[in-house]
Amino acid sequence: MNDDLTRRQQLAALGLTDWRIRPGGALDKPGAPAKPVGPAPEAAAEATTPTMEAAASPAPESGQIAADAGDLLAEPSAEGSADNSPAALDWPALADWLAAQDHRGATQPVFGIGAQDADVLIVGEAPGANEDAQGVPFVGRAGQLLDRMLFAIGCSRETNVYITNICKFRPPDNRDPTREEIAADWPVLERQIDLMQPKLVVAVGRIAAQTLLDCKTPLGKLRGQLHRYPRRDLDVLVTYHPAYLLRSPDQKNKAWADLKIIARHIGSLAERAA
Ligand code: URA
Repeated sequence: MNDDLTRRQQLAALGLTDWRIRPGGALDKPGAPAKPVGPAPEAAAEATTPTMEAAASPAPESGQIAADAGDLLAEPSAEGSADNSPAALDWPALADWLAAQDHRGATQPVFGIGAQDADVLIVGEAPGANEDAQGVPFVGRAGQLLDRMLFAIGCSRETNVYITNICKFRPPDNRDPTREEIAADWPVLERQIDLMQPKLVVAVGRIAAQTLLDCKTPLGKLRGQLHRYPRRDLDVLVTYHPAYLLRSPDQKNKAWADLKIIARHIGSLAERAA
């Protein structure tokens, strides 16, 4: 955490200027009647783009994705053999492997960005138009909000988090990624996790959360609690996708509650490591 940040600065970073801070840290938006802040009671109809809301389909289950991905997930083969599966590759070779895959109509792969030795991995859904053009995750308006959210808890892609997506190629027309698309890119995310060995994964948005946690639970029920990544000894926290927050700014108080949980968890990881 960045000790220099005042609470007000943190809120400003999230675009929550003029919000009231209540005792205990809850937030009230300007003019809103005070109400308790906590995990959403409702099943949040959360999606990352307007088109996704319309086309919302359940995320494929990651257990099934692993099966779909087949031998791409195979363990590295015996020493000395020329194994070119993602599970055997280092960072540069993994990026090259991805670049050699079918781009599925996208301009280029969007592999990931940030500190590859960070303790915290941020996983989004899939590149949009800006990310497709630049080859970098979260560079559009949603990405700028994500950066502000991270800044609010002392994190940044320049220093202490790595950011990537479930899907590495932009789905046509910004639609939800299909099960096949997720399965095709899954070995890359798995290898990124293997190489990075993060201590915490933050899933932003429904698709990332449901895919990583191998469930169909609505995002509103997944946030606010610590999960375990089913296939590894790894903590997972969940929050709203910044694109959703751009469309639903009244949900930012919940995102702020999530960020405080994330910050606390990062703090406790640091304490355990000290
Ligand atoms: N939305 C995502 O989920 N990922 C990006 O990289 C950009 C927008």
